[in-house]
Amino acid sequence: MTNILLFGANGHMGKVIARIAEADPNAQIVAGVDLNTDNYGGFPIYSSASEVKEKADVIIDFSHPSLFDSIMEYAEAENIPSVICTTGLSKEQVSKLKYMSEKVPIFFSANMSLGVNLLIDLVRRASKILEDNFNIEIIEKHHNQKVDAPSGTALAIADAISDTVSYEAEYIYDRHSVRRKRGKSEIGIHSLRGGTIVGEHSVIFAGTDEVIELKHTAASKEVFAAGAVKAAKFMKDKGAGLYAMSDLISAV
Ligand SMILES: NC(=O)c1ccc[n+]([C@@H]2O[C@H](COP(=O)([O-])OP(=O)(O)OC[C@H]3O[C@@H](n4cnc5c(N)ncnc54)[C@H](O)[C@@H]3O)[C@@H](O)[C@H]2O)c1
Repeated sequence: MTNILLFGANGHMGKVIARIAEADPNAQIVAGVDLNTDNYGGFPIYSSASEVKEKADVIIDFSHPSLFDSIMEYAEAENIPSVICTTGLSKEQVSKLKYMSEKVPIFFSANMSLGVNLLIDLVRRASKILEDNFNIEIIEKHHNQKVDAPSGTALAIADAISDTVSYEAEYIYDRHSVRRKRGKSEIGIHSLRGGTIVGEHSVIFAGTDEVIELKHTAASKEVFAAGAVKAAKFMKDKGAGLYAMSDLISAV
């Protein structure tokens, strides 16, 4: 059994985590921390980490960067691993996270979907094999409320390709303003916005007379919560260090 302390327990993701843990025979939430201490599950919710009385094996954090310091303090004092899923950490906080991982185990990923991270892993492998003869393009689709483009995940995919191929990749976001043939080192990154699409990422390897397409579609935000609970179980009893989704995937 993995006993979880959940930061951001009353948030959108916190509630999904609680639901997933309830159905998992090997994981349970023992306590939560949130500004909103309204109780909805079979565990207490405190307004700060210092009030927590329950003993946990792992922390899951889907809250806000303002809680980051107290999470690190708690993880160090209790010597327990933490799975940090909150996004928008400052540069200083990311540096602190790396420094703290020398003392306590920390899992950190801006995208907790196992499927997206597997997609990135497969894209790395395909890029290595196909780089000489195939053009690589990325298409991402999201709902009409999303303000940023391209998505952070599309950029993470492009970075994974760029790290793998032997040439210096050039990211191309727009082709309408230039009239020239596609260069060999280009990675086209295209964004589509509409309706309620939760998130879709396709990577197209276009060669001579053949096309390979690797694609991930998220139907709900549950995929991130499911990945976080998997990561929490993976992190139980781990030693100090910085862990990522790639470690979880290679352990499967
Ligand atoms: N890594 C991933 O795959 C992934 C996926 C989805 C969301 N996220 C991130 O997770 C975070 C939470 O997302 P959400 O959609 O659940 O947000 P949310 O706003 O619904 O929930 C955040 C919760 O944290 C609580 N909170 C905020 N500041 C606090 C503080 N100082 N002390 C105590 N509690 C505090 C809020 O009361 C709220 O209940 C965001 O940073 C989001 O970007 C990451």
